[in-house]
Amino acid sequence: MKQSYISGLGFHVPPKVVTNHDLEQIMETNDAWIVERTGIRERHFVENGVGSADLGLEAARKAIADAGRGPRDVDFIIFATTTPDYMVPGNGVLIQQGLGIETVGALDVRNGCSGFVYGLSVADAFVRMGRYRCVLVIGAEVQSTGIDLSTRGRDMAVLFGDGAGAAIVEPCDAPRGILSWALHSEGALAKELWCEAPSSREPGRITHAMLEAGRQYPQMNGRQVFKNATTRFPEVIHEVLRDCGQTLDDVALIVPHQANQRIGDAVAQRLGVAPEKVFQNIARYGNTTAASIPIALTEARDAGLVKRGDLIVLAAFGAGFAWAGCALRW
Ligand SMILES: CC(C)(COP(=O)(O)OP(=O)(O)OC[C@H]1O[C@@H](n2cnc3c(N)ncnc32)[C@H](O)[C@@H]1OP(=O)(O)O)[C@@H](O)C(=O)NCCC(=O)NCCS
Repeated sequence: MKQSYISGLGFHVPPKVVTNHDLEQIMETNDAWIVERTGIRERHFVENGVGSADLGLEAARKAIADAGRGPRDVDFIIFATTTPDYMVPGNGVLIQQGLGIETVGALDVRNGCSGFVYGLSVADAFVRMGRYRCVLVIGAEVQSTGIDLSTRGRDMAVLFGDGAGAAIVEPCDAPRGILSWALHSEGALAKELWCEAPSSREPGRITHAMLEAGRQYPQMNGRQVFKNATTRFPEVIHEVLRDCGQTLDDVALIVPHQANQRIGDAVAQRLGVAPEKVFQNIARYGNTTAASIPIALTEARDAGLVKRGDLIVLAAFGAGFAWAGCALRW
């Protein structure tokens, strides 16, 4: 069996920058609280009318060009998002249309913050089995239109940003490429980080009472998320390294989902690695959910932190709870 590798990367964020000071104007919060608890200084928000498929399409075009390919080379699309343009169909088909390519398959993944790593594992399996040769994996989110940007929703509202990242996955010969991955979930904790409405359990999907109670906005038990994330990140990083016979000493860079700077710092501490071995760019983007890993990986590579031959580990944790890891030889 062949291996698969990431042959191209790209990301796109909408131009509008929203700083912590901008948020101070619309809710009771302050820059010092946000920076101290999360490390976030600013994030990007879309203008009205822009959806996650639009952001994903821009990132996809960059990743395809970065791989030295054209849109017509793409033979399968995987789109990870929790914030699709529509309830149905998924965003993947909108990318097929946007790229103007033939009727290739398109799969949507709704695994929250771990969605990109889940998508990457599917791409790896398809490429290894020889079914596809150029899989486009996108993680993209528009969180800003679905969060409660008032004091009531401030615990969540200050965390999230909009953006998209994409990767092209192609076959390669060992020793480079995706070495191992691991996928996990724990549905008993589903309601610790969730968005309840609109819901198929509700005739009409959403009621006025639900809207008034704010049940269309994501809700989170912040402490529970923090506690689980700081346990599951190190666990899954150790697992993928064990599976490919490597150790932490072999790792050049860990690129985690950007949930919170304090979570990233705690993960470095628990693993016993230097903080600079854990890439963090959350200060400028906030938490972009499924988009955060491909955005961070692209930035890290462009900054020269990911070089040919390096061992890289991706790790994500979020809603579900669902978490995932992936080890790659660049
Ligand atoms: C969200 C998080 C930063 C909150 O930090 P915390 O230390 O647990 O803070 P608390 O929830 O105890 O809140 C402390 C106080 O700050 C207040 N507060 C909450 N959000 C605030 C905001 N944006 N600005 C100012 N004050 C805020 C709370 O109301 C509370 O006030 P009180 O003590 O008067 O009740 C933290 O729990 C966290 O990082 N969790 C992980 C979240 C995450 O990464 N989610 C992404 C999913 S992958």
